[in-house]
Order: sequence, then C-alpha cells, then structure tokens
Amino acid sequence: MSGLNDPSTQWWRHAVVYQVYVRSFADSDGDGIGDLPGITARLPHLADLGVDALWITPFYTSPQHDHGYDVADYCDVDPLFGSLADADALIARAHELDLRVVVDLVPNHTSSEHEWFKAALAAGPGSPERARYIFRDSPGGPPNNWSSVFGGPAWTQVDDGPDREGQWYLHLFDSTQPDLDWRNPEVPAMFEGVLRFWLDRGVDGFRVDVAHGLFKEETLRDQVLAEGATASSGQVNTDHSMVSRELKDEPMWDQPEVHDVYRSWHKLLNEAGPDKMAVAEAWTQSPESTVAFVRPDELDQAFNFAWLLADWSAEAFSDVVTSTLEAAQPVGASPTWVLSNHDVVRHVTRYGGGAQGLARGRAATLTMLALPGSSYLYQGEELGLEQVDVAPEDRQDPSYLRTGEVGRDGCRVPMPWAGDNPPYDFGPGSTQPWIPQPADWAPLTAAAQAADPDSTLSFYREALRIRRGFAWSAGDEVEMLDLGADVLAFRRGPLTVVLNCGDAAAELPQGEVLLASGPVDGKLPADTAAWLR
Ligand code: GLC
Ligand code: MG
Repeated sequence: MSGLNDPSTQWWRHAVVYQVYVRSFADSDGDGIGDLPGITARLPHLADLGVDALWITPFYTSPQHDHGYDVADYCDVDPLFGSLADADALIARAHELDLRVVVDLVPNHTSSEHEWFKAALAAGPGSPERARYIFRDSPGGPPNNWSSVFGGPAWTQVDDGPDREGQWYLHLFDSTQPDLDWRNPEVPAMFEGVLRFWLDRGVDGFRVDVAHGLFKEETLRDQVLAEGATASSGQVNTDHSMVSRELKDEPMWDQPEVHDVYRSWHKLLNEAGPDKMAVAEAWTQSPESTVAFVRPDELDQAFNFAWLLADWSAEAFSDVVTSTLEAAQPVGASPTWVLSNHDVVRHVTRYGGGAQGLARGRAATLTMLALPGSSYLYQGEELGLEQVDVAPEDRQDPSYLRTGEVGRDGCRVPMPWAGDNPPYDFGPGSTQPWIPQPADWAPLTAAAQAADPDSTLSFYREALRIRRGFAWSAGDEVEMLDLGADVLAFRRGPLTVVLNCGDAAAELPQGEVLLASGPVDGKLPADTAAWLR
C-alpha cells in the first residue's frame, strides 16, 4: 500500500533528525566558515551516529546579518557555502548513506538585499513593489508599539526623498529582515516556486522558520501590554539567548490565516511524493495552538519547545510528556522532542554545566529518545558541548548588536573534530573559525570521543543503535508509572524508562538494563536515566 496517509512512507514519524548549523559544522575551503562541501565530507559522522535525517540551516544567498535567516535569493547557494552543484552533491551523498535531507525555509521575511525589497525601496510609496512588504505612512513615529524579537522597535523608516516623510516598514526581527505581506498573492506564489525548486533538487523536507509568523492582524493595532511589561514579541529572550513564553496579547503572531498557507503546502508536498515532509518552528502559546499546525491537512510536525523549557524536575517532565501526547493524539501527528538548537543555551549548560550538567543532559537525552515521535538533535550535543562564553568582540548575533545582551553566539561555536588545538580540524590548516573555539576542547573532539567507549559520543551512538530496534515497533502509547515524586518513569511497549531528578539514588524497577546515561549499580543514581526491558 502506498498513499498519502500510509505511515510506512512517513519516515519522519519516529526519526532522529540532526540539525546542522552550516556556518559551524565543517569548513572545506579554509575560510573559517562551514560550508556545503564540508558537510558532505562529514556525512559519515552522521551515518555512524545513526541518525535518520539532517536539517541544514539556511545556506542561500544572504548578506549574513542573521547568519542566513536573511535570504536574498531563495533559489541559490551563497558563495560562502558553495554552489548549487555542491547542494546537489550533498543531497546525493546523504541519500547514498540513507540520510534524508531537510532544508530551512524562511517565509516570514526576506533580506533587505532581496531584489523585491530593493525594488520596493526604489519604486516608492503606493507602488506594487512596496505592497509585497508591510510599509505604512506614519508621520512622527512608528505605526504601532510592536518590538523586534531582537530588541528595539519593529519598524524602520526609509528615506522617500525631500518632498515627503519616509514610510515605515515592519521587521519582527532585524531591520535587515523586512516582513513580507502574506495577504499579497505574489508572496504565496513566490514561495510555492521555492518549495518546488528544492523538491526538484531532491530534498526530503522543509523546516519552516517562524511558522507562526507570516500573517499579522490586519489592523496592525497596538499590542496590549501587561502592566510593567516592556513591549516585546516573545520568542527569544535575549538576556540569556533563552526562550520564554507567557500568555500575552500577540497581534503579530499565530493568526488564523496562516493555516491556509500550510494547507496549500500540504497539497504541494503530497504532489511531490508521499515521503516529503515539513516541520514547523512555531513558538505558540499552548500545546493546542501548536497542534493546529499539524492537523492532518497541514504540516507534518512542529517543534515541541515545552521539552526544552521544562525545569529539571520529574513533575515538569511528566507534565510535558502527558500534555504533548494528549495534544498530538487527536490530530494523529507524531510528537517531537528537542533539547537544544542554534537559538538557545546548550542544555548541558542549562542543567548547570560541568559534570552534573553533562550527567543531566545525557539523562534527559536518553529519556527523550525513548518517547514516541521524533527527536531533534543539535550538532555538538553528541559531544556534550557546553555553551561558550564568547568574548564581546567576537559576538555576531544581531540580537547582541541591537541590544547589547549576550545573544546566541555561544551555542554556535564551530565543531571540534580532531586534534589538540583550535581549529580542531574544523577546516584545513590552521585558519581559526569565525567564532573562536575554547582552548580546552581537545578531549571533546569527535575523534577523541570515538576512541572512548564511555564518551558522550559513544553513548549517543549506542542509544541510537538500540533505539532503532524499538522506535517503530514500540507503539505510540506511553503509560506513566509512579516511582515517587523525584522519578519520571514510564512504559512504552516492551521498554521501561526511568529518570531520576532527585538528589538520592532511586530503586530501579525489575528488568534488564539495556542502557543507562551513567553508571548504575543496582540503584539508579541521581541525574541518571535508564532503559530497561
Ligand atoms: C528563527 C531562527 C532564528 C532566526 C529567526 C529569524 O527563530 O531559528 O535563528 O534568527 O527565526 O529568522
Ligand atoms: Mg568555508
């Protein structure tokens, strides 16, 4: 049987997807910046790790103000990262290794260097070129009180000559990322072309950036702010490059019209083949609003940020598991889990850093990998990398440049592959990468860890190897077990999973320990998880 809803073709339902941050994965040409041939050369690392797919962050033509999330040409490769031929070679090599390729799609905004925006500036107020973006006349100040996610106002005024006051354009992110007007039919038409372009080149899916954006409440009314709150668009709390969500009035996000776009993309993807997928990055306010993005005729998956936002407590993790599964069940979508990505503080550091942070990170990972659905891993977590305290002069995140807050550079430090000193084989020769690597990473390189059976890399490989044996057969049901307030415990098919979030060792349930995140000896130590059968 094959067809639209045949789960056997829906490879993503229980996949492990590895996020490649292109600038920081591997550099082939010695310019200190990762690139597509660098990724291709390192694909065996992903095959050996045992993941099913890789998601690659934007490598399209871009002035790199937001490191590729500011796209100037959606259908070409930035020379910094290679060429279209390099993209084809990457996709072909990945497929040879049985790895699916998911590319990033950035539909909420273009770069200010996109030809559409340049034409909009040149054509002036009232033109059809301006109507692809959100330009407004607003003498004396911005049209409303919205803030950019990256700090400061969400509006920038342009110069329309000496005879009139310049118009303002909306940018929910950096001023070099003007928001498109999705009510203009030219915009959806352009993105359908972009989807088809990459599908024709053989990609297996898309990660949809800011999927909850796209439409703004048509009146562009002010955001109602809680007393004492500063105007903010949520998503990235730039203080700690962490994320925080609270229920608030958000006329700029999660508008109902956005779902029509995903219904049309669903049809387009299905026409391209039953095995094409899309995953939404949607920072919505509740599990119910996230699930709207994965109704059967919309996108296939949505990131579940609740898992990475949960505190280190059995109760918090248990609540997330229960509410995630409950929300996903009625729409039949496969749930997702994620602990780290290129926008948040690495989870080993979030969990306190050092030996305890690493123990907790491994334990949370093992727990996540046992749950039904897909797990998204972020490059370097398989090495146990921590957030790096990047020196102010090396910081490049636009949120840092707009606000002076630390920003997200610390989770984007280039990968250490081998050797005793930076650049740790990140690229050829001794060129130092675009963000300096710490001097003490030699024991963390992939080569050093591959040789050590107790390393974090060996642990990830073993977990993914065992996972392949049950991921598809263990079913979607999770039965929560009560092993005390400090222990998260559940059964999924033949597997029993225990995570000890308390301070003292806990009893292990009956069964054979298949894998543990740290040493176990009759009991389950604090900050440790185990799989039993
Ligand atoms: C998404 C990306 C983030 C980017 C932003 C604007 O949240 O993950 O890195 O800065 O969108 O495109
Ligand atoms: Mg390079």
